[in-house]
Amino acid sequence: MGTLSDVLLYTPGENSIPIVLVPTDEFEEWQGFLSAGDRAWLLRQSFTAKPGQSAWLEQDGIAKVVCGWNGKADLATLGHLPMSLPEGDYHLESSVSSIQVLGWALGAYQFDRYKPASRKPARLFANTASDTRHAADAVALGRDLINTPAEDMKPSDLSEEINRMAKTFKANLRVHVGDELLELGARTIHTVGRAADAPPVLADMTWGDPGHPKITLVGKGVTFDSGGLDIKPASGMRQMKKDMGGAAIAIGLAYLIMATELPVRLRLLIPAAENAISGNAFRPGDVITTLKGLTVEIDNTDAEGRLLLCDALALASEDDPELIIDFATLTGAARIAVGTEISAMFSTSDEVAQTLHAHGESVDDAVWRMPIHEDYEHMIKSNVADVLNCSVSGYAGATTAALFLKKFVNGVDWVHFDIMAFNIRSRPGRPEGGEPMSLRAVYQYLAKRYGPGA
Ligand code: BES
Ligand code: MN
Ligand code: ZN
Repeated sequence: MGTLSDVLLYTPGENSIPIVLVPTDEFEEWQGFLSAGDRAWLLRQSFTAKPGQSAWLEQDGIAKVVCGWNGKADLATLGHLPMSLPEGDYHLESSVSSIQVLGWALGAYQFDRYKPASRKPARLFANTASDTRHAADAVALGRDLINTPAEDMKPSDLSEEINRMAKTFKANLRVHVGDELLELGARTIHTVGRAADAPPVLADMTWGDPGHPKITLVGKGVTFDSGGLDIKPASGMRQMKKDMGGAAIAIGLAYLIMATELPVRLRLLIPAAENAISGNAFRPGDVITTLKGLTVEIDNTDAEGRLLLCDALALASEDDPELIIDFATLTGAARIAVGTEISAMFSTSDEVAQTLHAHGESVDDAVWRMPIHEDYEHMIKSNVADVLNCSVSGYAGATTAALFLKKFVNGVDWVHFDIMAFNIRSRPGRPEGGEPMSLRAVYQYLAKRYGPGA
């Protein structure tokens, strides 16, 4: 647990080893400049400059690492090196971009809360901007939160994490716990969480100059999703410690915004609850009055994320921010649509969606827009309440979830992310496990829109 930025050195290590990037398609030409001995040595290491390959050379008595490269500036360029090169200090002889340096840091991540790390990562000296260091730490924070099992990540653990962060950055924090949610009118959050021993919470943090543009982040913090009375099968429940992934992303992003002192007025709203089963669990057919006043009929207790979010979004809308962004591990349907490695994005603004997509590309954090197709609203019509919590048909499940949420945001520009928040396979810079997907894409968008030079 902890920070990743410490693998990025401020000063070159004493015996720092140089690394040279060799583009795959320039390998033959590059090799032509080497001595016969060097070429033979590379051959013995099967080095052909393919991405992900690295090999050793010794030139003029100095050891060097050569590393294959596909010519793209992404996390994968250097992401495999911190855990494959021997422990020690390295620097680059080739020039690289901040996203590539970040890849190194993110590739050094290990979740060591319950067993010691398998090794020390190799460290890199590069001319690293402080934003890159903060981004590495924000991602590490998000990963740690997601990877921590539900037993150690109760709703109060999430709000405690926010409390720590709020203290660091002198932000204001209000946490509504258990029955206090009823006084606030946040009945849906309370209802989802009431069956669990650990009470549900709503954390409400604000930071920054009140005169700056108001941005509000919301994250789904379901610390474990059993499905409730509509219980999930074992296979569907296995990974549900990650159902607070949206909260982890919003928290990590808030950290990054505050650490880089982005000139915005930030509000972070985290509704957190465990979707558990007991005698007082909510039931299919129940009707809940939301904070906004709309009534929701429960079709399925496993569509709990949108219930947490709807009250938080209604609250977010009340002070009329410039932009509301929510993050949620909301539907299996979004995963069917775009798979596990792309974040599904819904937006009421074409411009925001297009720009966000482009920024996602630029920082190697893929987001893809999906439709908020109003004609599908009939699928969430209820006979007894204003709205049904999910569609009875399985079609367009991510869109009907977004349509449900949209009822609670009042005309404000709104972006909704339906994300996996988990790497189901390891890729360079992205080890298997929790991953705050879309965090860096959104940060890039906000930094370009509101940051210095915007
Ligand atoms: N947390 C799940 C969605 C989920 C499952 C995200 C697997 C990522 C991976 C959510 O609360 C859920 O159970 N959604 C249901 C909704 C359905 C009951 C309308 C789903 O998608 O099956
Ligand atoms: Mn669920
Ligand atoms: Zn869920």
